[in-house]
Amino acid sequence: MKNMLKMSPIIREDIENVYEALKDQLGKIGGSSWLISGGAGFLGSYFLDLLSFCNERVFDRPCRVICLENFISGTPARIQHLKDDKYIHVIKADIVKPLQLTGPFDYIIHAASIASPTFYRKYPLETIEANVLGLKNLLDLGRTRSLKSFLYFSTSEVYGDPSPGNIPTPEHYNGNVSCIGPRACYDESKRLGETLAVNYYRQYGLPVKIVRPFNVYGPGLKLDDKRVIPDFFSDALMRKKIAILSSGRDTRSFCYVSDAITGFMAALLSQYDGEVFNVGNDELEIDIKSLALLIAGLVGETAVEFKRSTEADYLTDNPRRRCPDLSKARALLNYGPAVSLESGLKRTLTWYKEAYGF
Ligand SMILES: NC(=O)c1ccc[n+]([C@@H]2O[C@H](COP(=O)([O-])OP(=O)(O)OC[C@H]3O[C@@H](n4cnc5c(N)ncnc54)[C@H](O)[C@@H]3O)[C@@H](O)[C@H]2O)c1
Repeated sequence: MKNMLKMSPIIREDIENVYEALKDQLGKIGGSSWLISGGAGFLGSYFLDLLSFCNERVFDRPCRVICLENFISGTPARIQHLKDDKYIHVIKADIVKPLQLTGPFDYIIHAASIASPTFYRKYPLETIEANVLGLKNLLDLGRTRSLKSFLYFSTSEVYGDPSPGNIPTPEHYNGNVSCIGPRACYDESKRLGETLAVNYYRQYGLPVKIVRPFNVYGPGLKLDDKRVIPDFFSDALMRKKIAILSSGRDTRSFCYVSDAITGFMAALLSQYDGEVFNVGNDELEIDIKSLALLIAGLVGETAVEFKRSTEADYLTDNPRRRCPDLSKARALLNYGPAVSLESGLKRTLTWYKEAYGF
């Protein structure tokens, strides 16, 4: 990824769309203080961009933001354009280590984790630590401040491989997850993270909200991230056949990043302490082969092929289907996805061309 000295135009448009959707709520938070972990990652960086945009264009009194990031999977290039931002301070730090931070915080967002299966299988203990010990450090820090809200990033992977009767999957489905398989370092540590977070609410009244994102994609998801959408774009943009590393029959429901950020922010700024929300897109549950063909069509001059992954555990415990029940987020947060898969993929392609110079 190239170092970007200005916010990417396509990301700026996304940010403007998030702002438009949440104008009323965002209008009330000028002057607040934020702590964001994982701010160079795919999702965390959108929060930095949104707050930077609001400082520049919306707030009379700017927000101050501290971002903690150890760059284990995030890259400084993604947030290079914020280097001289007076109000956004990026500290290279591991949230698993004791935190010594001064100053007030109104909002804490814990978005640091290792979210790509290839990388969490490579760093299983670091993944568990970020999801549980890092979370506990931030919750404890939150207790010492008069916090307005705390957002914990869980995952739809807490549902594991749901039975057909539980698809679309509602928040009250308890999941079907292996506790010792190669994905367990992620799925089970997110489950324990949720338990920890709700009990900080129950025991200490900490205003925690939990979100379970369903396969978010879009600009900022690095081409070498190893999640399926960047993997397919990477093959196609490098003029290789798109390699499908499974039967291609499993399904996923992909959510464009500006929709997802709108849902996450709506949860954070809501009054629903101790609650958990699915955030995703329920309009299309698509099989992986059709996704590959769609991306092949958008990039052009490529075809698809079936291959075996070089990673032994690539398909172990891989869920067969993923589709969110969004009734709760629709009813309580007024959330609903607005960007179709095809238009989100086109926007993602524009960003890949811009950021990688294809
Ligand atoms: N993107 C999705 O589709 C998706 C889906 C479900 C859940 N989530 C969750 O949302 C959150 C953000 O996901 P993402 O896609 O942005 O992931 P990401 O891997 O792109 O970003 C995570 C960031 O956290 C940083 N990090 C990891 N461990 C750290 C530590 N110990 N200290 C400081 N920084 C650390 C990484 O360097 C990276 O920049 C994660 O908790 C993830 O599990 C994401």
